[in-house]
Amino acid sequence: MDARQLKVEAARAALVHVSDGMRLGIGTGTTADAFVRLLAEKVATGLTVIGVPTSERTAALCRELGVPLSTLEETPELDLTIDGADEIDPALTLIKGGGGALLREKIVAAASKRMIVIADQSKMVETLGRFPLPIEVNKFGLRATEIAVRAAATGLGLAGPVTLRMTGGQPFVTDGGHFILDASFGRIPDTRALSNALFAIPGVVEHGLFIGLASTAIIAGGDGIQTVHA
Ligand code: A5P
Repeated sequence: MDARQLKVEAARAALVHVSDGMRLGIGTGTTADAFVRLLAEKVATGLTVIGVPTSERTAALCRELGVPLSTLEETPELDLTIDGADEIDPALTLIKGGGGALLREKIVAAASKRMIVIADQSKMVETLGRFPLPIEVNKFGLRATEIAVRAAATGLGLAGPVTLRMTGGQPFVTDGGHFILDASFGRIPDTRALSNALFAIPGVVEHGLFIGLASTAIIAGGDGIQTVHA
């Protein structure tokens, strides 16, 4: 099975955790898209759920496929969020934000009783950091924030390129109207320390380290589905 098929299998396995009447946070990315497609099939045959999407992209897909939507304003407490990830370590700390939706993804996950992360096995790592860490930053003072991010990393013994995410020759702009810095620091042995250091920088809006949010990971690999609990 290729990665695309494995993502579908992980999404399918997550569906058994969805029951009638649930208020669902719905993630962003190709794995989350696979979940939305399977969820829509269930909705078409009578499953009653209300979804809160983590991005405009996911909202558009849900509308297209007929998955009923709410907002976090109308539905501020959710039963379950199902989302993908860019990297997952054995404690279920995640790197997210490869798709640029990290801020809404984290707000929605934090508003949920449970978060299940779904992925193909290539996302599992011993130590986070092979995937560049997305850091969402305010447009104002971009250069100063970038310098402060580098200094914070240096203070923790981390170093590596920090690049402004671009798309079509322009800076990528998040749904919240911010920029993203992708930080290639390599292995991050102390995610909590890096999180604290980044949040101490005023221009940092959010970062892609998800610590203590995912309770379960459903990982699809060549040998089948593996369920990991935090
Ligand atoms: C979106 O911002 C990300 O957090 C995604 O959840 C993550 O990049 C995983 O994406 P894929 O499912 O496309 O690999």
